[in-house]
Amino acid sequence: DDTPTRLERVIEEVGDITGTGEIPTQIHNDSDIFDLELQRIYARNWIFIGHESEIPEPGDYAKRYIADNPVIFVRDENGEIQVLFDSCRHRGTTVVRAEQGNTTHFRCPYHNWTYKNTGELVGVPHKEECYKEMDTCEFALQSPAQVDTYAGLVFASISDDAPSLEEYLGDFKWYLDINLKFAEGGLEVVGEPIRWEADTNWKIAADNFTGDAYHVPAAHRSTMDLDIFPSDLTALAGNRTSLDVTNCSGHACSLSYFEESPGGYPEEIFTDEHLSDKQYMISKNHVSIVGTIFPNLSFNNTLKNADPDNRELTKFLTIRKWQPISPEKTQIWNWILVPKNASQEFKDRAYDTGISTFSVSGNFEVDDFAVWDGITEAAGSTFVREMERKSNYQMGIGEMSDAENISEDWEGPGDVINSAFEDGTMQTFYRSWYRAMKGQKIGDSNE
Ligand code: FES
Ligand code: FE
Repeated sequence: DDTPTRLERVIEEVGDITGTGEIPTQIHNDSDIFDLELQRIYARNWIFIGHESEIPEPGDYAKRYIADNPVIFVRDENGEIQVLFDSCRHRGTTVVRAEQGNTTHFRCPYHNWTYKNTGELVGVPHKEECYKEMDTCEFALQSPAQVDTYAGLVFASISDDAPSLEEYLGDFKWYLDINLKFAEGGLEVVGEPIRWEADTNWKIAADNFTGDAYHVPAAHRSTMDLDIFPSDLTALAGNRTSLDVTNCSGHACSLSYFEESPGGYPEEIFTDEHLSDKQYMISKNHVSIVGTIFPNLSFNNTLKNADPDNRELTKFLTIRKWQPISPEKTQIWNWILVPKNASQEFKDRAYDTGISTFSVSGNFEVDDFAVWDGITEAAGSTFVREMERKSNYQMGIGEMSDAENISEDWEGPGDVINSAFEDGTMQTFYRSWYRAMKGQKIGDSNE
């Protein structure tokens, strides 16, 4: 019987997005799709764990997740970063019960097996009497197959078959560097990551963050009316260059910048040491750089004003992990990063600006989740399945193919389109989704 099942058909339809500009709406709330995503996407690709600056000292640790897998993100006694699967080798309970802390050892609460922060098992109560033959070396806490760091960002992959992190990020590093390497001394996370849950499928958030400039004047209209995001900074401003970066090693972003810096970061923190002239110019002159590293790590390096009466325009970098909980539930992890060498006054202002715009009660964020929850609700309906409803990703299809594609005159990698009003970035995301669901690899080798 070669009749494709519903699941196979739906996945193939996503793969056709370049031609049709459509995907089946049901992928945004479907338990069969979700189960397959855990296996094909989350168990086989590189998933963000945290930033190095969150665990600066030996013994610092924090509880994290790779999809449904609890892990411990820890700096061990030797100063090395470890990611350990948080499940005791005895009966399997989670060993870490605090969100974060500092310790040389983890002691399991059930029968008190005790592990060093390298993962090594060093304590088994009554070992001499009850476990005479046991070789404790065989019972260390386990690690994902691969753990690696890029510019302070720590990732892990459960699969040893995934390409190296270097290859996985591929050409997209050119754009990441603009956001991560512009400041002397690097960046650091302020405070703890802020977490909350939304009734949203994880892909809807990841897709929006590849660069949905189209929703800004609509969904975020109130922020313009209130001057939190002055309209002369938006994509509607005439003197703004807005570029969509598509097909960049499977990742995508959208960047917009002016000919002169609109401000936002303290002038003295910039360094051109790790950037080309063009990258350095964008790092100073941008108003926003928003993107998604497949599958679920997004970022927004953006200029906002938390309090138009008293404050100045301020930049901050928010990093997002869209942690899948179920087809209709996502836990959002939000890190706010600032230049390490900036003043405390700047860091406080950047944090306040981040919290009041892009966070759980931020005025941008509440706009977004109101509509993303709505997509998820409708996507799970019988109507959507029975009618085989499609979601539209056709914006700019004509210009994406020819006239506006500026790749040839552009220094950076990817297929770059001189417009923020086109859906090529989202098409890139869904093509990576298709490849991953078909068991193909993401990264340099695929573009
Ligand atoms: Fe951890 Fe028994 S489950 S010591
Ligand atoms: Fe938004």
